[in-house]
Amino acid sequence: MRILGIETSCDETSAAVVEETGDAAKPWAIRSNVIASQVPIHREWGGVVPELASRQHIRDICGVVDRALDEAGTGWTDLGAVAVTQGPGLVGSLLVGVSFAKAAAAAAALPLVAVHHLAGHIESLVLQNGELPLPSVVLVVSGGHTSLYLVERAGAYRLLSRTRDDAAGEAYDKVAKLLGLGYPGGPAIDRLATRGNDRAVALPTTRLTHADRNAPELKGDLDFSFSGLKTAVLRYVRAHESPMSEGELADIAASFQRVVVTSLIERLFDAARRYGAKSVGIAGGVSANSRLRAELKERGERREMPTFLPSLSLSTDNAAMIAAAGLRKFRAGVTASFELNADAALPLA
Ligand code: KG4
Ligand code: ZN
Repeated sequence: MRILGIETSCDETSAAVVEETGDAAKPWAIRSNVIASQVPIHREWGGVVPELASRQHIRDICGVVDRALDEAGTGWTDLGAVAVTQGPGLVGSLLVGVSFAKAAAAAAALPLVAVHHLAGHIESLVLQNGELPLPSVVLVVSGGHTSLYLVERAGAYRLLSRTRDDAAGEAYDKVAKLLGLGYPGGPAIDRLATRGNDRAVALPTTRLTHADRNAPELKGDLDFSFSGLKTAVLRYVRAHESPMSEGELADIAASFQRVVVTSLIERLFDAARRYGAKSVGIAGGVSANSRLRAELKERGERREMPTFLPSLSLSTDNAAMIAAAGLRKFRAGVTASFELNADAALPLA
């Protein structure tokens, strides 16, 4: 069976065709994965402007879907279902994908599957590597999220912890902005950091020990926090009145990156130990980070723990991961009605 996936939760309009392989160990294959990025549009404003994003999704969605079907050599009648990101994300952007998917499913008489954006990021690991040894602890780390999930059974995701304030990618984007590096900040800091001394600037690490009043059901000691770190960089930059040299900027970037990556890796492996994980994975936009990828691999080898990452093209937002998560859900017998609505704050359960 082939499924059409649609993703419009933020600033990428994407459509993909994914098909089942019949191989239980590596269940899905990508036939196409078309991504129209809006980065050049939002760069001018230093971040994603929601209203511009939804308008651009409307302009792009038809062409992107046509191209995804075309590249996959697939017609509407070859499809078995349509999967779409229901949330979380920007509501205006989500609505474009949800409305399109509902209309397409109705017109082509196909079942509709609603997908959680983070389930998509988690399943990007399976799409890339095949089924993970379970239980697995997966860190989803992007511009909007920094959360640890325990996957005990395929398709069942249990939230273990999340950030109390900024997402790691958001911290990258904000720090890059105050260093004058432009948008999106993650790749820019990543590149600059390779030339800097990661011990040059003393920056604080936040280690939370108490539960969050807003989420008393979670123990809280695996939670993340990045706003203090961002403020520390801001203070450091303000204390330097003269424009900073390329070398100084590289030192800040490297020092910031060391603190972020260390805190992500530490919590991930702490959680893996606590829950007896047989594998760990990192997904989401920030999983493209070179230091994070290297440290995951190195730490995994030291602990003899299998580690998983998506390819660079599957790490940032894309519809192939939504199609994969949609296939998983469809095979579990879960479809959506045409009453489906976008949900900006959809919980993953
Ligand atoms: O998953 P994604 O495409 O969109 C969201 O769902 O947020 O993630 C985008 C985020 C941005 O914050 C971007 O700065 C960050 O991923 N990012 C990186 C790198 N590449 C992208 N952060 C650090 N290092 C990178 N190489
Ligand atoms: Zn994402």
